[in-house]
Amino acid sequence: MSLSDPAYVKEQYCGSKNLDARIALHARFSTAPHDFHRWVFDHFNLHPQARVLELGCGNGALWGKNRDRIPTTWNLILSDNSVGMLSSTRCVRVPAYLLQLDAQAIPFSDETYDAMVADHMLYCVPDLPRAIAEICRVLRPDGKLYAATNGTEHMREYFQLVSASLRTEVSRPTYNFSLESGEEQLRRHFVYVERFDFDNALAVAETEPLVGYAMSTSIGKQIKQHECEFRRMLAERIAREGAFRITKVAGMLVASKGNS
Ligand SMILES: C[S@@+](CC[C@H](N)C(=O)[O-])C[C@H]1O[C@@H](n2cnc3c(N)ncnc32)[C@H](O)[C@@H]1O
Repeated sequence: MSLSDPAYVKEQYCGSKNLDARIALHARFSTAPHDFHRWVFDHFNLHPQARVLELGCGNGALWGKNRDRIPTTWNLILSDNSVGMLSSTRCVRVPAYLLQLDAQAIPFSDETYDAMVADHMLYCVPDLPRAIAEICRVLRPDGKLYAATNGTEHMREYFQLVSASLRTEVSRPTYNFSLESGEEQLRRHFVYVERFDFDNALAVAETEPLVGYAMSTSIGKQIKQHECEFRRMLAERIAREGAFRITKVAGMLVASKGNS
């Protein structure tokens, strides 16, 4: 299925419940010593008066995890298309304005922002070329886009187990903006694009967080019909291997209109 299907996006992100379940799995069982959101923030190289706009901010996890590092002198706007999602963003309590907006029609003048953040959200946007053009338009000539996303092999073993438990091939979600394809899409608008990979995996030692993860996704309804078999296979795998090891492919594309 396509992650940018408008009906799916509307249902999936009407509130933060689904996103929270997925973030919780990654937060508890990731093998990397460093937190992903801290790693994303490590890449920000911005002056004290920077104007920063985040698109598709979700529950605001990036800023909650980096609360101690956000300069109060930044002019920071966290935005999302979903009003329900923004009510959870409000709970992170960081020095930022919240705004509802669609990345395909950004209501700001040309060359307004020093930095734009679009983490794990561009693959939700149906008209991606339009959103990228909009980002480019509102970025200042020396501004930067920070766009985290997944690679196509992300969660490979999980989808294999799902397919086995449903006894049918469940295809992995289609990303219209992945670590692999995003670089080329950004190069159509930006002079400089660099890919950074975050070395990580999951080692999941409990069944329930993975059941919660599955239920939060587009295949949740199918899993529900085969829940016993899904649980049994998960429990067997964890018992046999100590933890279910799952590939993670995530990282960030950094783009700018200038040369660096
Ligand atoms: C997978 S979540 C990622 C949230 C957050 N950036 C993160 O990394 O945890 C995708 C978010 O993008 C938002 N979104 C989807 N389509 C959008 C659009 N066209 N414009 C702005 N936000 C959008 C959704 O409401 C959701 O909060």
